Amino acid sequence: MAPTLGFASMGMLGILLVIIIAFVVVLVRAIRVASGGGNARRESGGEAAMLSMALQDALVKLKQQERAMAARAEASERLADQIVEGLTSGLVVVDRGGQIQAINPAAKRILGIDGGAGKPYREALRPVQPLSGLIDEALEGSSPIVRRTIMIGSEKPRHLGVTISPIINDEGSLQASVCLFTDLTDVMQLEEQLRLKEALARLGELTAGLAHEFRNGLATIHGYGKLLDPQSLPPQAKTCVDGIRAETIALGEVVTNFLRFARPEQMTMTPVELKTVIQRAIDDVPGAAAAVELEGDFPAINGDDVLLRRAFSNLVRNSLEACADAGMPPHIYIRSDIPDDHAILTVEDNGPGFSPEYLSKVFQPFATTKANGTGLGLAIVQKVIVSHNGLIAAANRPEGGAQFRLRLPLASRDPGPLTPRSL
Ligand SMILES: Nc1ncnc2c1ncn2[C@@H]1O[C@H](COP(=O)(O)OP(=O)(O)O)[C@@H](O)[C@H]1O
Ligand SMILES: [Mg+2]
Repeated sequence: MAPTLGFASMGMLGILLVIIIAFVVVLVRAIRVASGGGNARRESGGEAAMLSMALQDALVKLKQQERAMAARAEASERLADQIVEGLTSGLVVVDRGGQIQAINPAAKRILGIDGGAGKPYREALRPVQPLSGLIDEALEGSSPIVRRTIMIGSEKPRHLGVTISPIINDEGSLQASVCLFTDLTDVMQLEEQLRLKEALARLGELTAGLAHEFRNGLATIHGYGKLLDPQSLPPQAKTCVDGIRAETIALGEVVTNFLRFARPEQMTMTPVELKTVIQRAIDDVPGAAAAVELEGDFPAINGDDVLLRRAFSNLVRNSLEACADAGMPPHIYIRSDIPDDHAILTVEDNGPGFSPEYLSKVFQPFATTKANGTGLGLAIVQKVIVSHNGLIAAANRPEGGAQFRLRLPLASRDPGPLTPRSL
């Protein structure tokens, strides 16, 4: 666009030159006529007419060029506006006085704010303090900030990748800052799920063999313990034998659960009705049937029904345990919706929910708050859902109680690549 405008202004300069030269010629002629005779006056009359025509011609051309230039400038301004409006990334331009000069629709959508143009950025971006802090830094430093990741929002946190570039004027001082950002939440979630999948596979390879050996050893100890006849033992030895038996049973359970979690799972994918699987999972947990309410549109998916059943029974068991610990009559609500090619399931209860500092750890193996817990239930649930190319997230309901949100693809054939969608 810049060379076109350059040529146009050169053209206008040329026409201006012609006009000036024509003026000079007319002026010189007029002086000569004033000092010369009648002949010269006649001759010069014709020339003056020709010159005035040339002058008019030049003026018309000048006007045309001016109009063309204005149209071109308008078109390029419109194009720039369309580009800014249509950008899927957020764009905020802040002048050096701290006023927002421009903010595009994507920026308002990502940041969850209305308006903003013409306002001080500190005021308009108050709900997204980390971004306003980054603009503070850019305006103070006047050096670019490149691909910085920030987190905004507390209830539904989102990760933004932000780049801020300064616009420097001819005097070398900062004129404005251009802040461009993209929502990286989905990409980061996808990366995390992929990392998790890889980590689980590696962990399985490393530890499954060892855990298996442990289980065999424990079975042997337990077997020998059973062979000992408590009647023929002195009373204090009887207590020890009972202790050994109880411990081997408990440890055996931990190892079995750990193997379930760590062993690379052989998945048998068949079409399964999610509602049927969930109902069977409820039947597996004593006392759950009366507490669970199912609602919504439950699809059929391609999955491993044994693994899915195990996952849902773990969720239901946890909810029942949480309600029992808090002394609440349990109510577990499971809802399914099919908004697109995925099913979104929520599992909610009326228990005490998670303590805020524990929430980020709930899926970690061995993370438990229960005296007799293994901390492997939710790790297994997450593994099963991730193996089905799904996602799971835990949260506290605003009205109290725990909430799990699951996303399961309707047509998950083999455990293949994950799709970049967030919960
Ligand atoms: N529905 C729930 N409500 C409150 N806390 C829960 C719920 N589900 C899980 N938790 C918490 O997450 C922890 C881990 O659960 P899990 O992995 O199943 O292990 P475990 O049940 O053996 O403790 C629990 O100890 C508990 O603190
Ligand atoms: Mg559990």
